[in-house]
Amino acid sequence: MIIIRKPVLNDAERIAKVHVSTWQSAYKDLVSSEYLNSLSVSKSKEKWEKNISENSSIIYVAESQGQQIVGFISGGKNRDLDDHSEYKAEIYAVYVLADWARMGIGTKLFKAIVADFIELNYNSMLLWMLKGNSTEQFYQKLSGVCLSEKPYKIGGSTKTLVAYGFDNIDNLFD
Ligand SMILES: CC(C)(COP(=O)(O)OP(=O)(O)OC[C@H]1O[C@@H](n2cnc3c(N)ncnc32)[C@H](O)[C@@H]1OP(=O)(O)O)[C@@H](O)C(=O)NCCC(=O)NCCS
Repeated sequence: MIIIRKPVLNDAERIAKVHVSTWQSAYKDLVSSEYLNSLSVSKSKEKWEKNISENSSIIYVAESQGQQIVGFISGGKNRDLDDHSEYKAEIYAVYVLADWARMGIGTKLFKAIVADFIELNYNSMLLWMLKGNSTEQFYQKLSGVCLSEKPYKIGGSTKTLVAYGFDNIDNLFD
């Protein structure tokens, strides 16, 4: 069984482990191995401790029965006020460990954060993803619409970020 819940400060290290591990598996064909190998759980842990303690974004974790964190989502107000300011909310990150993928956990994490967005009167949202990974199909299944692309420098080369927009999120899971 998977429990979706808000994190406590003590979860920061386990979230960081998921963050680093999913980056290293999901982006291995897209981002240089040098960059991926340089990702540090301890630095990521510090960022997550800050995020959790400052309450600056909405975060949910997915916890397995063995109390292992296997995925997380974070989001809040849309940070991209240049191109797509009509979208009120933004998913900042969503990651599920490769061994736990395709079990409905990503969808459960989306449902949890979307419920919070609706309470905050955010009726639409967007997210930016690295072009070229298979997660586009996940967003398309949730009725996401490709909005635009922009260049993104990472690991010594320039990649492409793709924005997906979701309108009327009150009806996303009807
Ligand atoms: C994207 C991600 C969060 C999805 O989580 P998940 O728990 O695997 O997703 P779900 O099981 O809820 O998938 C729901 C549906 O989306 C589609 N889908 C999800 N992942 C897919 C994939 N890799 N390829 C094709 N379709 C996919 C499927 O239709 C799936 O339903 P099905 O399994 O019954 O066919 C997760 O795979 C992940 O963390 N990927 C790597 C990291 C990443 O790129 N994150 C996005 C950064 S913004």
